Amino acid sequence: MTYEERLQNVSVLGAAGKMGSGILLLTAVEMADLSLQSGNKEKSFILNAIDVSPAGLSGLMKYMREQVRKVAEKKTVWLRKMYADRDDLVENYDIIDEYIFDVMNVVRPSTNMEVAYHSNLIFEAILENKDLKVKLFSQITTNSTTEPWFFTNTSSVPINIIENEAGLDGRILGFHFYNPPAVQRLVELITTVKTKEEVKAFALEYAKKLKKVIVPSNDHAGFIGNGHFMRDAIHGMTEAESLADEKNIPLYKAIYMINKVSQDYLVRPMGIFQLIDYVGIDVVSFIMSVMNPHHADEKISHKLLNKMLLQGVKGGQYSSGAQKDGFLKYKGGRPMAIWDTHKQEYVELEKFAGECDEMLGSMPDSAVAWKAILRNKKKDELIAAFINDLKNIEDLGAKLAIKYGRRSKEIGEQLMKLHVANNSDDVNTVMLTGFFHAYGPVNNYFD
Ligand code: CAA
Repeated sequence: MTYEERLQNVSVLGAAGKMGSGILLLTAVEMADLSLQSGNKEKSFILNAIDVSPAGLSGLMKYMREQVRKVAEKKTVWLRKMYADRDDLVENYDIIDEYIFDVMNVVRPSTNMEVAYHSNLIFEAILENKDLKVKLFSQITTNSTTEPWFFTNTSSVPINIIENEAGLDGRILGFHFYNPPAVQRLVELITTVKTKEEVKAFALEYAKKLKKVIVPSNDHAGFIGNGHFMRDAIHGMTEAESLADEKNIPLYKAIYMINKVSQDYLVRPMGIFQLIDYVGIDVVSFIMSVMNPHHADEKISHKLLNKMLLQGVKGGQYSSGAQKDGFLKYKGGRPMAIWDTHKQEYVELEKFAGECDEMLGSMPDSAVAWKAILRNKKKDELIAAFINDLKNIEDLGAKLAIKYGRRSKEIGEQLMKLHVANNSDDVNTVMLTGFFHAYGPVNNYFD
């Protein structure tokens, strides 16, 4: 089966979720683009968007239409060539509307798993529940009219365990996108000792067509990305609790300060507590619970996550992509309050942020902002100068930042020692292209 034939019938499981919707978007665009090539116009391309939630599927169609419009607007020149034989499409907006129609025409929303029985390729982005994944894969492979390949987006479960329990024998690999899949360039590729060469070769070709950066991770619970993220999150939460104790301040103030340090001082797109909210406090807790039993010498969990969940605060996102409240409360995507675990209510930033900023101290003049620095040709130099200045000041914010940066580096090195990552380039590329960091954790800045 050629690359193109494999993509003629595909299913995405968990299509209405935040990862599934991104995978569906990227795959629908790739399939529609193939269908527009000369010689393919008579062939059918079917992409089943399967999800248990009918409401989720209708939200998904709205997301798809909006995003495909953006995609189309960026490639009108190419689309004009593809629609060159269509005299009725004159203006750019005619072409864009036609392309949206063609992409949406590929997608078949369904709550019925049986439609996947005819697919050659299954993308899976359901809950991080190993038993459910195994059950669905076994059901599909048993009833399938083809011998489908399975690309799982699991972010934590070792692939060989799913492979063995579902009896897939070389027809599965981990194809781990990062949130949001349409924006983050990374895909972590995890193969098992049994993964067939042709499955891997297809995965590499598909990733290349999507302009994704592939980083191989060894088949170790959590892989590279969550291997770093979960330990980084544990550091952030532990630091917030210690800061609250040492300074005798309420935890919500310490959460604000650590979030600020991990964003502004470390030059990251989001502070660690915002990132936990973005992924979902429940999802982070679940990923840790999958990773923990695989790490005999290390505790991968944090009681603060459970406390938040017991208080009914989960974070995560609505199907529209809007942020739900978690450690932070959001208005128009911007943090405006922090959860007080003691009183179980949000406290507005304007009531306390000024006093916390004063405790952190002022940032050096060399401070750089994440968005501004990303495309700056002197990025590395400017970051080095900023971090060097931080090392030379005694303020609390600078001290917390240097400690945080050193811990992040230590985590990166640990991932190599544990043979999760093959080298420091892979660790750094994961954090640069999956988490949009401005620099990799394994660096000399914090030495
Ligand atoms: N779908 C499509 N496009 C999206 C999107 C989505 N869900 N969310 C954001 N975008 C687009 C925006 O439309 C915008 O596009 P244009 O530049 O073309 O207008 C672009 O992304 C930038 O968005 P914004 O200007 O709104 O905001 P920003 O500059 O702050 O970037 C962000 C937003 C890309 C999410 C950035 O904040 C970021 O990278 N944050 C860190 C996210 C992260 O770490 N992700 C990894 C999580 S861990 C994970 O995924 C693994 C796991 O297994 C748990």
